[in-house]
Amino acid sequence: MALFTGKKGLILGVANNFSIAWHIARHIMDQEGVCGFSHLPDKPDDERKKMRMRVAKCTDTYPDNTKFLMPLDVQKDEDIAAIMAKAKEQFGTIDFLLHSIAFASLEDLEKDTIACSRAGFKLAMEISAYSLLAVCNAARGIFSPKAAVLTLTYFGGEKIVPGYNVMGVCKAALDSCMKYAAFDLGPQGVRVNALSAGPLKTLASSAVGAKSMEPLYTAVSPAGKAVTHEDVGRIGAFLLSDMSDGITAEIMHVDYGYNAMGSPGRMLDRLEAAKNS
Ligand SMILES: NC(=O)c1ccc[n+]([C@@H]2O[C@H](COP(=O)([O-])OP(=O)(O)OC[C@H]3O[C@@H](n4cnc5c(N)ncnc54)[C@H](O)[C@@H]3O)[C@@H](O)[C@H]2O)c1
Repeated sequence: MALFTGKKGLILGVANNFSIAWHIARHIMDQEGVCGFSHLPDKPDDERKKMRMRVAKCTDTYPDNTKFLMPLDVQKDEDIAAIMAKAKEQFGTIDFLLHSIAFASLEDLEKDTIACSRAGFKLAMEISAYSLLAVCNAARGIFSPKAAVLTLTYFGGEKIVPGYNVMGVCKAALDSCMKYAAFDLGPQGVRVNALSAGPLKTLASSAVGAKSMEPLYTAVSPAGKAVTHEDVGRIGAFLLSDMSDGITAEIMHVDYGYNAMGSPGRMLDRLEAAKNS
């Protein structure tokens, strides 16, 4: 028996094959899990249905494990209700729910945090933090007794990471939403956690310069490494599986220990050595 044999659930937030959600879903499906996926709605005049097509390119590689793929804009309550209704119809109950969704306009991300517009702040918070509460509440009636929810967060919500700006504020809110959701859903046996991933190249992360952060993580982290999609996919699947029973309301850092450092560590030693050579 595999880790996800007989388990079914929702994967929200695949945009393409670089998406963290895709790498978590892959691990779940490799372990016999069955998934329903969301994609961002296509514009009515887009005949090629680009958004759906990009996600379908991934899910088509797992035809036996993909039950459905449907549009979801978390700003719309009716979209959230529709995907939960579909999950109920297809699965009855769900064992896992992955929330891997964030958005802020580039214009607001590029500004000093204090200069973020009122509208941009509301939009970023609604999509990146409130949506976790909304999907947890909408799924309340279809969670199986030992279901697990996972959201994706970043260290920039705990400490200042220049350039992460308004998204850091959103992640701080998301971390808190995750803990309160864990409290609300705890009595029905549902666990809720956050995986705090080190920087990975994806569509969303290009806006906050994740790629340029990788060498810093390699230089500073205790393990001297930066995470890979494979690492985050594997540990995300673990947090959505029964193997992680006992862990809830937790922010699990998957960053080779970068978050634990209180100084630049060996990077400083290297700078010193370079200065003295
Ligand atoms: N890539 C990194 O370095 C990194 C590090 C830590 C945390 N994260 C977090 O991981 C999560 C996934 O991001 P990713 O890096 O895989 O990028 P991604 O672009 O592949 O995923 C972001 C997803 O959010 C979805 N989304 C945006 N607005 C939406 C809306 N209104 N309704 C529904 N879905 C919407 C997009 O369609 C996309 O699928 C995000 O929360 C991100 O902040 C990423």
